[in-house]
Amino acid sequence: MTSTARSEIPPDVRVGVIGVGQMGADHVARITERIKGARVSVVDDYVRETAEKVAAGAPGCRVADSWQELIAADDVDAVLIASPGRFHREQATAGIDAGKPVLCEKPLAMTPEDAYAVVEAEKQAGGAYVSLGFMRRFDREYAELKDALDAGELGEISVINCKHRNAHTLPGFDDTMMVHDSAVHEIDAISYFLGEAVTEVQTVLPVPGPRADDGQHDPMILMFRTASGRIITDELYVNTDSGYEVRTEVLGSAGIATIGMGIDRVTTQLSGGSWSGAIHPDFRPRFIDAYDAEVQAWVAAVADGSRVARRSATTWDGYLAAATCAAAEESLTAGRFVPVTTRPRP
Ligand SMILES: NC(=O)c1ccc[n+]([C@@H]2O[C@H](COP(=O)([O-])OP(=O)(O)OC[C@H]3O[C@@H](n4cnc5c(N)ncnc54)[C@H](O)[C@@H]3O)[C@@H](O)[C@H]2O)c1
Repeated sequence: MTSTARSEIPPDVRVGVIGVGQMGADHVARITERIKGARVSVVDDYVRETAEKVAAGAPGCRVADSWQELIAADDVDAVLIASPGRFHREQATAGIDAGKPVLCEKPLAMTPEDAYAVVEAEKQAGGAYVSLGFMRRFDREYAELKDALDAGELGEISVINCKHRNAHTLPGFDDTMMVHDSAVHEIDAISYFLGEAVTEVQTVLPVPGPRADDGQHDPMILMFRTASGRIITDELYVNTDSGYEVRTEVLGSAGIATIGMGIDRVTTQLSGGSWSGAIHPDFRPRFIDAYDAEVQAWVAAVADGSRVARRSATTWDGYLAAATCAAAEESLTAGRFVPVTTRPRP
């Protein structure tokens, strides 16, 4: 095992990006065009032509022969993983073992067991190496709400109501994917906001709406209960045919706070009144500033040797999210509250 000492990090952090499909290519472009103190030195993709095309847009970037070669490379100080989730456990663990900071897109792994293995790998390495890509933590509204909650401005919190809406999903986006790919962001936000984990979860499946895909209950409602008895609802509606929006409403003894109701939203009131504005077509423009802030904070943490930024989700957060998703998936068929079972933190 090697380690990258702080003094060895060059002024411009050299980032290797594994998987340059939609998210990976976006990250390469953001690092190249907008992030200070970093450049993309190496990319890897299962499809070599994809890697070559993306590398051509990043000055000084080369294509690796494999993701293993990328992680080991001398011209890679830190690794950004944007391959499909089923590879994250192995690739993140390899990054840890090489002593290189990792920014891993969510999920940390496909199962709680695999996620726990990455937590244990960090433990063995003697510190935190992995930042997990729950970028909403870096969204301005999310960060402001988190700071208000931490400062006690809303008093005692009893209920949080979340809404998660997409214009469309791709064919095959079934109930399981609604839990693992959509609700997972609210699942992480719950522990981010409240500082406590979910202890049980129930999915509630209304009659599928008119645009629900095969194998999909859309809308779907999830209910979470935390250790202290707080209740969180998450209403997923992923084929609205309009646009992308996520909202969070926190009910506290000293006030109610709502985020996601900004100028981005447009609706027509059912009663006949109306207002108008713009709505984002999908998650990328909605959260572009959050992705930028997340990657900038990661680069700063790599450069100063702390490796994981203060607001970032960690491997433990990834494990909790995986365990909560597993319980939610079980609830799809069990139709009742399912306990979230977790192992002790190593
Ligand atoms: N944070 C977010 O909001 C957010 C949003 C979308 C996707 N994601 C996550 O980002 C990751 C990538 O999603 P995407 O939408 O870009 O997928 P994608 O299919 O567009 O891109 C994945 C790329 O990885 C390549 N690839 C496949 N196996 C590989 C391997 N073993 N090693 C290297 N490259 C490999 C594929 O050829 C493809 O180019 C997923 O984990 C997804 O859940 C996160």
